[in-house]
Amino acid sequence: MTTPRPLIYAANWKMHHGPGAARGFLTRFLDLTRPVEGRSLWFFPPAVSLAAACEAMVGRNDISVGAQNVHWEPKGAFTGELSLPLVTEVGARLALVGHSERRHLFGETNEQVGRKVAAALKAGVTPLVCVGETLAEREAGRTENVVVRQVDAIVERVPAAEWHRVVIAYEPVWAIGTGKNATPDDAAQVHHLIRFELSRRGVEQRVPILYGGSVNQGNVLGLLAREELDGVLVGGASLDADGWAELVGLGG
Ligand code: PGA
Repeated sequence: MTTPRPLIYAANWKMHHGPGAARGFLTRFLDLTRPVEGRSLWFFPPAVSLAAACEAMVGRNDISVGAQNVHWEPKGAFTGELSLPLVTEVGARLALVGHSERRHLFGETNEQVGRKVAAALKAGVTPLVCVGETLAEREAGRTENVVVRQVDAIVERVPAAEWHRVVIAYEPVWAIGTGKNATPDDAAQVHHLIRFELSRRGVEQRVPILYGGSVNQGNVLGLLAREELDGVLVGGASLDADGWAELVGLGG
């Protein structure tokens, strides 16, 4: 028997599902799914639902919960921010870092993303760090340049020995929430570029790289058919327990 390919299915709930809805979702989802060898299920609920989600998934080692955003400082006067010690106290083991909505709507820079990734690793939290180009950047032929700069800003902050704990998501901004996913070939090409950049910089080459941007039940298998993809990061199609359970079951 061959070992199944390790895959990560990450659900980014953005500003949906308060504690009650998160509990209801996970109760239903746990009923519908069983752990599968090599398959990890990650949830990024809004901050107010972190504790509820962590409590609801107790007993399922295949499920982990993470914060959608963290500050790089462990404490201090940063009104409205969440520190890594605060999110780990309620059970978060992951942190989404540098999502394009943070970068483009809230002005997060490559430098800040690098600091957050380094801080997460120091706190024992696995960072899922997002990179990806805008439509204007793609149309101007700048995809490679933009993604390489985003990856390099992380490489500069993270020692080579820590890279086995980093996960990257390639999320082209033009594909997020638009219903227009990258083709499997487009995604695989950028995944290949990211892996090449990591190897060029002497970094661990087995860093999992997920694809995100309008992934749904209809296109997930085509995307995951490309061996360059180690999983998916999903927003809209992860909000319904039945639909998400179906999607994570499609890959076998
Ligand atoms: P989407 O969002 O699946 O709704 O396109 C993906 C994301 O923002 O991570």
